[in-house]
Amino acid sequence: MRAITVLPGQANSAQLTDMPDPPLDDGPVLVETMAIGVCGTDIEIVGGLYGTAPHGAERLVIGHESLGRVIEAPMESGFAAGDLVVGIVRRPDSVPCPNCAVGEWDMCRNGQYTERGINGRHGYASERYRIRPEFAVKLDASLDRVGVLLEPTSVVAKAWEHVERIGRRAHWEPSVVVVTGAGPIGLLAAMLGRQRGYEVHVFDRVTNGPKPQLVSDLGATYHAGSVHDIVGRADVVIECTGVSALILQILGSTAPDGIVCLTGVSSRGTPVQLDIGLANRQMVLGNDVLFGSVNANRRHYETGATALAAADPAWLGRLITRRVPLDQWQTALQREANDVKPIIEFAS
Ligand code: BGC
Repeated sequence: MRAITVLPGQANSAQLTDMPDPPLDDGPVLVETMAIGVCGTDIEIVGGLYGTAPHGAERLVIGHESLGRVIEAPMESGFAAGDLVVGIVRRPDSVPCPNCAVGEWDMCRNGQYTERGINGRHGYASERYRIRPEFAVKLDASLDRVGVLLEPTSVVAKAWEHVERIGRRAHWEPSVVVVTGAGPIGLLAAMLGRQRGYEVHVFDRVTNGPKPQLVSDLGATYHAGSVHDIVGRADVVIECTGVSALILQILGSTAPDGIVCLTGVSSRGTPVQLDIGLANRQMVLGNDVLFGSVNANRRHYETGATALAAADPAWLGRLITRRVPLDQWQTALQREANDVKPIIEFAS
């Protein structure tokens, strides 16, 4: 079968490789891949900056945002041929740490987790894969065009869950939400904010392309100006760019009791000047919280699946700005102006 693979650590090594069929050891549920989403992490992996191959292998099959259809599954698995499924990315570490032991692998304590298509485990960008039922999430059949958005939705479902848990440290009645970055993560974070009924403001640099309209069709407000004008009213900020200058503007500047969730995995090497004394003072006097959030566990995938099923399918469909057939897979791994989410279609 064909799979998109890389030599981790080596830029531009991606190729379509002929691979043996998925090993039975991977799990009893056999899935035919329908689509793979491409995100910044994939671009980093293809650029040789991130990712590791499975133990003993040279190449890594990429692809962690997936949508597939079950080909065969044992009766007791809860899956049946034809079911739409999304594979969970992370696997618990083998020790396991206290969090992985209870299914909270997104909060792994020892860093020995693996991630399909990213760290130490083959991903889903192969024509078929196998999976254990506890790591597969069933999707409503109506999501067959957009279900590939579940993985990024699970990431923001976790971010929102943690914002809400932190919020409940005291009386919690937020109204204004600021989202920085109108990429897939930002737009899906904004969608979850609107589903909760909040006043949502989304900031991005661009003034053209699909993003402004996607934001306003959510009932949120799009800004291409400075976040400075609105951040003082923000009860919640979901930061989705990882851009240092932007993070500096947000730090300590929210409304009192503000909660800032960082989701952007930034690159190193851009030192900026920060008056940490001032930021500390503002955060202490404002009871502010700043925290990071990555990955998702099964509960977040399930919350994400419910959120996708409740969203406007046409709006979700517009997030997928390019559907590239497998034989042109390379073009999906190159950024294009106006991209929101490019996907590679394996089978329909
Ligand atoms: C994925 C996460 C993963 C993270 C770090 C992100 O692109 O969505 O599931 O944990 O990369 O590897």
